[in-house]
Amino acid sequence: MADTIVIFGASGDLTNRKLIPALFQLHRKGRLPGETRIVGFSRTPFTHDEWRAKLAESAVRVGEGEFDPAAWEEFARSIYYQPGDIGESEDFVKLRKFLAPLDGDHAATRIYYLSTAPRFYEPAIAQLGASKLAGQPCRKCRVVIEKPFGSDLATARRLNEALHKVFRERQVFRIDHYLGKETVANLLVLRFANTIFEPVWNRNYIDHVQITAAENSTIGRRADYYESAGVLRDMLQNHLLQLLCLTAMEAPARFEADAVRDEKVKVLRAIRPKRAQDVAADTVRGQYRRYRDEANVRPDSVTATFGVVKVEVENWRWQGVPFYLRTGKAMSCRTTQIVIQFREPPHMMFEGGPTSTHEANRLVLQIQPAEGIQLYFQTKVPDAGMQLRMTELDFNFRSKFAGGMPEAYQRLLLDVLHGDASLFSRSDEVELAWGIVDPIARAWESADMTEIALYEAGGWGPPTSTEWMRRQGREWFDMCPVLH
Ligand code: BG6
Repeated sequence: MADTIVIFGASGDLTNRKLIPALFQLHRKGRLPGETRIVGFSRTPFTHDEWRAKLAESAVRVGEGEFDPAAWEEFARSIYYQPGDIGESEDFVKLRKFLAPLDGDHAATRIYYLSTAPRFYEPAIAQLGASKLAGQPCRKCRVVIEKPFGSDLATARRLNEALHKVFRERQVFRIDHYLGKETVANLLVLRFANTIFEPVWNRNYIDHVQITAAENSTIGRRADYYESAGVLRDMLQNHLLQLLCLTAMEAPARFEADAVRDEKVKVLRAIRPKRAQDVAADTVRGQYRRYRDEANVRPDSVTATFGVVKVEVENWRWQGVPFYLRTGKAMSCRTTQIVIQFREPPHMMFEGGPTSTHEANRLVLQIQPAEGIQLYFQTKVPDAGMQLRMTELDFNFRSKFAGGMPEAYQRLLLDVLHGDASLFSRSDEVELAWGIVDPIARAWESADMTEIALYEAGGWGPPTSTEWMRRQGREWFDMCPVLH
């Protein structure tokens, strides 16, 4: 039996840089099921061979010296191209006619991958329904939809409605590529395949949690998108809230899509959307100093490129434990990490021992790029009386396991092919996430908050962020990871 992946937005950047290289790697590892075929659809009038040649070029670039031409030749035989315009219903009829003989007599799984600009999602979905490429005639069809999934709650709802007119929810795979990262999936393993962490994973032992996704890159050529998205929509509504959900959720009974997603949804429901009057006190925003000089950025832009949001999960496990979500561009280094800061010992009998929470036990989950885990604890310094010092146990994925860390898209594409939606967002999940972010975005964009703190590139955001955290009675862990 054969599977067919139809990529809309075939000539785009994501297809070249991520999707095709990931499918190629899966092919090389022998993981693609049966005869998987890839069909590109976009307006550029390529022939099959022209598109293959173009993809080969970027596969060589992405492969960074590890490109295997023989394997590519074999893989490229299953790649096809059908030119078409999402606005033209005739082109969908042509696509249907092109796909029919490819599938042959066998009931094939069809995957429609929407890798277009977001404004084309709804028209593409409607065309798939109208041309009978999806909907009732295609029970084995799936649709993959890239981020951003809407730009607020209202647009996300509308997109969900458009999807549900043509697909059942179980056929819909909403991508958040963070969920395809090995270290993110490992969060579930760490918590639920071990016994030693869960008993202390709650308000009795944890003081607070810091989730940081720092990038040293700037927005580069993405101003058209970034100016309207800003840091909240670009990183916080999706990636950071997903990391929070996996850190805070209860154990699902099974590792199955709905069991996992039900638990994540419970976390999101336990977060009360902020009232407008609380936003200023519970958030920090900033913009890197040269942002307004970037191409296509308005000279008076107040788009935030850095943001901190304090989130409270109001349930028995987490009452009183703040989760600080922090993310920004043009920061000191690229690092995504989750710091679980434990409480201080109730009584310190060692003179000169730790006196603040900052020196209490800490578990650091390094999501990327130094994938690993560190557990910090106090140790007696040898031959120095009862002097104590913070030391750590350091686990590193790359030194423990051979073979490197695969790109998130490999895992996600394979899961779509297998019909496993555990690592994809459900409709209620994205809507709840927007419900949390919307009031903050509204307040930030309101006339009352036009002042934005500027920060120098190469640091940890604006000084207001450090001061704000001090006022919380805490300190940021500004740590660039050590790459092994
Ligand atoms: C994307 C954002 O979703 O994630 C980008 O749009 C960001 O702005 C990127 O750079 C970060 O992804 P990663 O995998 O490099 O952490």
